[in-house]
Amino acid sequence: PFEAAIFDLDGVIVDTAKFHYKAWKRLAGELGFAFSERENEQLKGVSRMESLDLLLQAGGITEVTPERREALTSRKNEWYKEYLATLTPADVLPGVTNFLELLRSCGIQTAIASASKNAPLILEKVNIRPLFDVVVDGNSIVKAKPDPEVFLQAARLLGVAPAACFVFEDAAAGVEGAITAGMRVVGIGDRGLLACAHLTITSFEQLEPVFLLGHIGVTGH
Ligand code: BG6
Ligand code: MG
Repeated sequence: PFEAAIFDLDGVIVDTAKFHYKAWKRLAGELGFAFSERENEQLKGVSRMESLDLLLQAGGITEVTPERREALTSRKNEWYKEYLATLTPADVLPGVTNFLELLRSCGIQTAIASASKNAPLILEKVNIRPLFDVVVDGNSIVKAKPDPEVFLQAARLLGVAPAACFVFEDAAAGVEGAITAGMRVVGIGDRGLLACAHLTITSFEQLEPVFLLGHIGVTGH
């Protein structure tokens, strides 16, 4: 019954979530407040501008003009891109490449569903684009997670019904969006933070592919 696996990018395929946090924390520092890893959880999966709004809210900063918001997000993105410059294929998270190859050898289609406008750059830097049939990212969607748009668009491009898709997500907003899309979700990370996921793992290495494949109804490869 399961025909496609849809992956979030930041924090699932590559450990770029730490770079996002580093850049937001740096911006908070410049604005004069501390920003904890815990507070950063709610920014995960959320668009760049909405992330800024959540950050400013955490710092108690109100009434920011649209021009200032533009300037602050582009400042954050400049730092973020500086951090991305260090990425190499070795930064693909453990077990990810093997798992993608296994899925593809079973005839399961694969897609990226990311909120990031930097997704094409990241995929190219870590050289993993060829393992995905479809990429949907922040450049082609209107509504950010937890809206299901990015997942539904990926399923549509793959030509697969939402109910036949499995989603891999590290963000609460992403888990929520995938469930709203009518898909099954595997949370990557802390079970407590991703309580709505159908299954939670901490790493693809830990994921017993045979178990999962049994779970999603694919036999043999
Ligand atoms: C998501 C990240 O993948 O992309 C968020 O989890 C980020 O933290 C969002 O804000 C937008 O990314 P970018 O690269 O377009 O700023
Ligand atoms: Mg993510």
